[in-house]
Amino acid sequence: MTASGNVQTCTTVPIDLGDRRYDILIGSALLDAASTWQSLPPAGAAAIVTNTTVAPLYAERLQAALRPRYQRQLVITLPDGESHKDWASLNQIFDRLLAEACDRKTVLFALGGGVVGDMTGFAAACYMRGVPFVQVPTTLLAQVDSSVGGKTAINHPRGKNMIGAFYQPLRVVCDLDVLDTLPARELSAGLAEVIKYGPIADPDFLDWIEHNLDALLARDKAALAHAVRRSCEIKAWVVAQDERESGLRAILNFGHTFGHAIEAGLGYGEWLHGEAVGCGMVMASALSVELGLMPPSFAERMRRIVQRAGLPVVGPALGVARYLELMSVDKKAEDGDIRYVLIEALGRAAMMPAPAAVVSRVIEAHTA
Ligand code: NAD
Ligand code: GLY
Repeated sequence: MTASGNVQTCTTVPIDLGDRRYDILIGSALLDAASTWQSLPPAGAAAIVTNTTVAPLYAERLQAALRPRYQRQLVITLPDGESHKDWASLNQIFDRLLAEACDRKTVLFALGGGVVGDMTGFAAACYMRGVPFVQVPTTLLAQVDSSVGGKTAINHPRGKNMIGAFYQPLRVVCDLDVLDTLPARELSAGLAEVIKYGPIADPDFLDWIEHNLDALLARDKAALAHAVRRSCEIKAWVVAQDERESGLRAILNFGHTFGHAIEAGLGYGEWLHGEAVGCGMVMASALSVELGLMPPSFAERMRRIVQRAGLPVVGPALGVARYLELMSVDKKAEDGDIRYVLIEALGRAAMMPAPAAVVSRVIEAHTA
């Protein structure tokens, strides 16, 4: 499969969730186009939630684009960073909405990466028991994963994304042009979530990623358009079948059990989420091999792809016991038993427990 299609043309990927169905729009120049926002519900106010990095880049443009539709457009600018994905930032959103007398028709717009998207979604789920919101993801990671599917949350010091809600947006708008300003390290972090979709759902996509990794790293628009579209299609397919993660949706967490332990163990913000997921996928691939589910060549292939994407393949030396302790508070754990998303065949993943001795061996072999 090769990257194709005119990126000026907007591609639409629907998420089929019955009366909560919505579209993901993917293309160039979407942010400024009035047509992007035209059919959103009318309201007295649009509240753009963003952060100190993204606001100077894109907030005014979004305000201008929303002006014909919404009489009032306020901008709520939060501090930047995973370490601010907390109650204080959430309260900042509520304080401002209340101070500005925003009613329950107010539409929230999450303009930023996954941190802003997750917090805005949670704020939308809670404010006046629920107001509509739109995701305007500005990182690759947010475009291919976090803005889609309605998981919203803040972190707790004891665990990542532990306080949250399922709450679907009205629309997701992925303007590929905003990725031009993304730092290279963040682009690589986003690639981790793109790579994830190959082993869990689509071997052809993994081949495509392998062949187009250089183009993706060079921000070739056609390659990015294909990567975002295919990732969103796979995520939409999974979420439509299992919105609330009673089973299948857990496969989207390939690499995340190890990854969340890395993030929490180092303190949020030390490694980027995508970096932790990249390294976590290398560990989960090795565990799939150790358990006899996959041939050794698979783990080596995953290690190579993750490394080529500019992501770490060796985890921090937290100690095996600390990894196991941190993984036991993962949301997939049941009665303290850690469950891992493992690859059973290329394109097929499943969640299962693994003997602690085998997991310990994998951690030892993949940490500095
Ligand atoms: P992020 O939101 O912290 O953004 C990364 C950095 O890039 C930030 O400094 C941000 O200000 C900056 N930035 C954003 N857009 C930019 C742009 N266009 N130009 C320049 N700088 C820009 O991180 P992220 O990787 O986008 O998201 C990670 C978060 O997403 C984590 O909190 C993770 O838990 C969450 N997540 C949620 C889901 C979900 O399903 N809800 C899925 C995956 C990840
Ligand atoms: N990123 C995992 C999920 O959306 O379920």
